[in-house]
Amino acid sequence: PTAQLYFEQSVGTQVAIGIAGFLAVAVFINVVQQLLFKNPSDPPMVFHWFPFIGSTVIYGMDPPKFFKDNRAKYGDVFTFVLLGKKTTVAVGPAGNDFILNGKLKDVNAEEIYSVLTTPVFGRDVVYDCPNAKLMEQKKFMKIALTTEAFKSYVPIISHEVTSYFKRDPAFKGKSGIVDIPKKMAEITIFTASHALQGSLIRSKFDESLADLYHDLDMGFTSINFVLHWAPLPWNRKRDHAQRTVAKIYMDTIKERRALGEDDKELDILKHLMKSVYKNGTPVPDHEIAHMMIALLMAGQHSSSSTSSWIMLRLAQYPQVVEDLYQEQVKALGADLPPLQYEDFAKLPLNQAIVKETLRLNAPIHSIMRKVKQPMPVPGTKYVVPSSHVLLAAPGVSGSDPTYFPNPDKWDPYRWLPGSPNAPLMAQNNDEEEKIDYGYGIVSKGAASPYLPFGAGRHRCIGEHFANLQLQTIIAETVRMFKLSNVDGSNNIVGTDYASLFSRPLEPAKIRWERRD
Ligand code: HEM
Repeated sequence: PTAQLYFEQSVGTQVAIGIAGFLAVAVFINVVQQLLFKNPSDPPMVFHWFPFIGSTVIYGMDPPKFFKDNRAKYGDVFTFVLLGKKTTVAVGPAGNDFILNGKLKDVNAEEIYSVLTTPVFGRDVVYDCPNAKLMEQKKFMKIALTTEAFKSYVPIISHEVTSYFKRDPAFKGKSGIVDIPKKMAEITIFTASHALQGSLIRSKFDESLADLYHDLDMGFTSINFVLHWAPLPWNRKRDHAQRTVAKIYMDTIKERRALGEDDKELDILKHLMKSVYKNGTPVPDHEIAHMMIALLMAGQHSSSSTSSWIMLRLAQYPQVVEDLYQEQVKALGADLPPLQYEDFAKLPLNQAIVKETLRLNAPIHSIMRKVKQPMPVPGTKYVVPSSHVLLAAPGVSGSDPTYFPNPDKWDPYRWLPGSPNAPLMAQNNDEEEKIDYGYGIVSKGAASPYLPFGAGRHRCIGEHFANLQLQTIIAETVRMFKLSNVDGSNNIVGTDYASLFSRPLEPAKIRWERRD
């Protein structure tokens, strides 16, 4: 037995030595390659010890810090290894323009996103179809969002917010402490589903849809970029939820068709039921259903994260809550009549809260594209090879002192006239270059350092809705509550970068006090 134990130990030692040796060789080759075999036309590579892992861990811990640190070292264009993929970052207005306004023949979004999104949204929409079809789908959704529709959304959103605060147990009494992100997630889904998808769908969120969307959401994690296909419990739940949710939408479409002229709502679902592709095909019901899932998922994570940050910022600076309340009293009258669409133009601070929060806490920190053919970077000697992925990070220019004095300070007043922290950039959208990628005319954003809604053919079509939704939520909240930090400090929680959309680290508790 002693001899056998000795034999086993020595085999174990040899295996360990073998692995260590293999790793040492891999690290050695990786380092030598980086130091000696530099192609002068390749963008500089962020130094890393281990192949495949590269800078994945350090990037994943805090992407904005990673971009800032490496920009200081390597300049506006650099490459890092993300899970074995050479990923080239280009920051600043020129970098944003290079990637986001890249040509269809050069850059591709669906090859990156489809593995994640298609099992969640369903077939034939967004990234599971040619880009030209996505452009038409975005156009249908955008056309539905008319001023008339927006006017009808304000009372819907207002009512959802006030009735939520009245019925939710966390807001019972005169004052209390609440973990805000969960509450904002619910308010976001109730307001968005009601306004954009109609009252029939909204009513189903009180029954089955909330849990089903939760299961769908589990397919939307970073790990699924690799394991999207695996027969794992969360993927099974995702697939079941996708089929069930799609069926709920398709049944609702039939119900609404039966209503005919009696259906007076101005939501996107109804608009899609009347929409026809350029080739004469009416949008099929399963595509409408899948677009509805995509729309709600796209809006949910971004708006819910933003509204949570807004409440946390307001709790950080209680005086701003008072300024917002007084702004409404002055502009709308002391009796604070029901909010209307037109009121928001009279509430510049209310608008600035959204703008400033998105500048510092944009939910999308990295936008990726697959490179389709070698792309020379204008104004540099670099050519990005077709084996690379491109990564745009508009948040970098959004927090650059060149454009935003005191960039790390959350200062909504910087967007109002006369502020010493006023952005150093053109503020008049009319002067910006306009372009139509197939879903309506948009400003190109080529020179803008502030692009929380992206730019180019994949730009957000939900910007105006999100603004209206967030501004209504703020206006209704400050009418009802004063907010502050639980410990009375000016601190704020850190950011959770673990999921695809960044959001406040939880728990994120704030104190509320009823005004009356
Ligand atoms: C695309 C941000 C709300 C629907 C995008 C993109 C960004 C963005 C940065 C570009 C992604 C890329 O280029 O890969 C935001 C933010 C929001 C918000 C910050 C809220 C604060 C919404 C809402 C909706 C929506 C409410 C739905 C009503 C979409 C759609 C796309 C998009 C359909 C197009 C995707 C594509 O063409 O590939 N959004 N979004 N978003 N967003 Fe939003």
